[in-house]
Amino acid sequence: MKMIYLDNGATTRVDPAVLKAMQPYFLDRFGNPSSTHSLGQEARRAVEDSRHVIARSIGAKDHEIVFTSGGTESNNLALKGIAFANRHKGNHIVTTRIEHDCVLNSCRWLESQGFKVTYLPVDSEGFVAADELEKAVTPRTIVVSVIHGNNEIGTIQDLKALGTVCRKHDVYFHTDACQSYTKTALDVKKQKLNLVTLNAHKIHGPKGVGALYVKKGVNITPLAHGGNHEHGLRSGTENVHGIVGFAKAVRLAKSRKYVKHMTLLRNMLIDSLLQIPDTRLNGPKGSKRLCNNVNVAFSHIEGEAVGGYLDVHGICSSTGSACSSRSLEPSHVLSAIGLAPEESHGSLRLTLSRFNTRSEIEKTLEIIPGIVRKLRKMSPLKGMISRI
Ligand SMILES: Cc1ncc(COP(=O)(O)O)c(C=O)c1O
Repeated sequence: MKMIYLDNGATTRVDPAVLKAMQPYFLDRFGNPSSTHSLGQEARRAVEDSRHVIARSIGAKDHEIVFTSGGTESNNLALKGIAFANRHKGNHIVTTRIEHDCVLNSCRWLESQGFKVTYLPVDSEGFVAADELEKAVTPRTIVVSVIHGNNEIGTIQDLKALGTVCRKHDVYFHTDACQSYTKTALDVKKQKLNLVTLNAHKIHGPKGVGALYVKKGVNITPLAHGGNHEHGLRSGTENVHGIVGFAKAVRLAKSRKYVKHMTLLRNMLIDSLLQIPDTRLNGPKGSKRLCNNVNVAFSHIEGEAVGGYLDVHGICSSTGSACSSRSLEPSHVLSAIGLAPEESHGSLRLTLSRFNTRSEIEKTLEIIPGIVRKLRKMSPLKGMISRI
């Protein structure tokens, strides 16, 4: 049975061309970029060329890119690094109720260290309103952190509008762009960003590598001290093969044609799944939704159970973020958009990549309605379902 992988929000398959680009850096070009001999300098060039590719992709300058071990580390560095470096200015942080756990848990930890955090609400589609942000900012606010494309429900925030508020109040603006990177426009100048979190494994690059854009002049303190790598912001020998793979993945991903392809498949899935009675879409429709994200709630059944049956058919899906999918708690993102716990538990997330095909989507759509029907027949709540 050929597997159909629809969990690309969790991670993606490494593109064979990425693997090929990385391989020499394990074998022949294995130097340490800090070494002064030619092997080391070859590795240094590879890191700096990669830095250029990533900087250019978001309208940044090369020296504004700091390589890290991934999205989690970049978000920790952004929030804790800014909080500790700017304590003299204030102790207030603004974020949202729909952030990834690595932002929320960094904020919770900062609260334990004496910082105050405001968790902004979102509307029923997951959007943060600029006027809510305006109301939340105080003279003690030092940083605002808002996820760009939501990992569970695909909502794409209007970063420009939120960045305008931050600029007006002279507070740093950070976004976690792990899910949106290469899928929708990201431009640090136009969107008035001071810090941006990126990673490689959501875009067919390797796991364990990411970056933080830190605008020149931003006051930030490192979390890892050592040999002053990455402009002193992230010590540790660079993950050269990972960084090379990351840049190759960025070069390959930046094509409108892939976005168009994923959008087409996404719309096919959404339109057909909404034909199933008592099914609702979580998150918005159209261009303000990530091109690869589908999240639907089937009433009166468990999304986990749908996922289990899909797995038997060789289809990989999820019920939410990979980090919290083993938790029985309802998703904090779905709760934030107003779903009751039982509606949350009926949710299923399908996330696409450029490698998915139309026939895979057709096959998935042949299977899901039957699974939902079967589960509803078994449901103790079946009397409440209007039209099975
Ligand atoms: C929005 C978002 N932020 C951060 C992360 C964490 O990134 P990483 O797995 O590279 O640490 C993820 C990945 O799960 C994510 O989806």
